[in-house]
Amino acid sequence: MRAMPISLDAPVLLRVVDDLAERGWSQQNLFLPQGLTLELAAECRKRSRAGELAPAAVGRGVSQEVREGIRGDRIQWIEPGESAPCDAYLHIMDSLREVLNRSLFMGLEEFECHFALYPPGAFYRRHVDRFRDDDSRMVSVVLYLNTGWVPGDGGELRLYLKGDVAHDVAPIGGSLVVFLSGDMPHEVLPAERDRLSLTGWFRRRPNEPF
Ligand code: OGA
Ligand code: MN
Repeated sequence: MRAMPISLDAPVLLRVVDDLAERGWSQQNLFLPQGLTLELAAECRKRSRAGELAPAAVGRGVSQEVREGIRGDRIQWIEPGESAPCDAYLHIMDSLREVLNRSLFMGLEEFECHFALYPPGAFYRRHVDRFRDDDSRMVSVVLYLNTGWVPGDGGELRLYLKGDVAHDVAPIGGSLVVFLSGDMPHEVLPAERDRLSLTGWFRRRPNEPF
C-alpha cells in the first residue's frame, strides 16, 4: 500500500482554492512528488505502446468527431483500480475535490480524467472545456508528465485570462494547472516532442442521459 503523499489540508491544496476563488485559475509548479510523476509518465507511455490511446474527439454525444485540425492528441480515460500510480493521483484529486467543496461550496460530485499524449506537431486549438449542452464540468485540472522539457519543445498551455491576456504554462513534469471550466478559453500550442499529461474535470453532477 502506497503512503499517501498529500494530506487533505496540505498547503498546496489551499493555495489552489485561494487562487481559484480570487482569479479563477491556479498554477502549482511542484504539485506532485517526482517519483509519482515518473510513475504516471511510465504508465502513460506503457498504455501508448500497447495501443490503448485513441485519437481524441471534439464535441459530445452524437456530434462527437475526431478533427485533427482542432485537436491532435491521443487519450485514454482512467478508472479506479487500474494501477497504483493512477489510484494515488485519483486519491489526491479526491482530496482537492473535498477542499474545494468545503471552502467554495462548489458541490463537486465526480472527477473524470484521461491520459493525453500529443505527438510532435499536435496541438489543441482555442476552446472552452464546458460543452454547449452540458454545464456539469466546473473545474479543469491538468497535470504534466514531461521530464527535461525546454522552451523550444513547445506544447505550452496558453490560458486567455481577463482582457484576453495570454499566460503560457510550460508542460513541465509535476506541474498542475487548475481553472474554472466555464469561462477560461485556452489552447495547446504545437508540441515538438511527445507531450504527456493527465487531464481531468470535476463535475457537479452526473451527465443526464439525452
Ligand atoms: C483539454 C486541454 C490542456 C493541456 O484537454 O481540454 O485543454 O495543457 N488540455 O493539455
Ligand atoms: Mn481544454
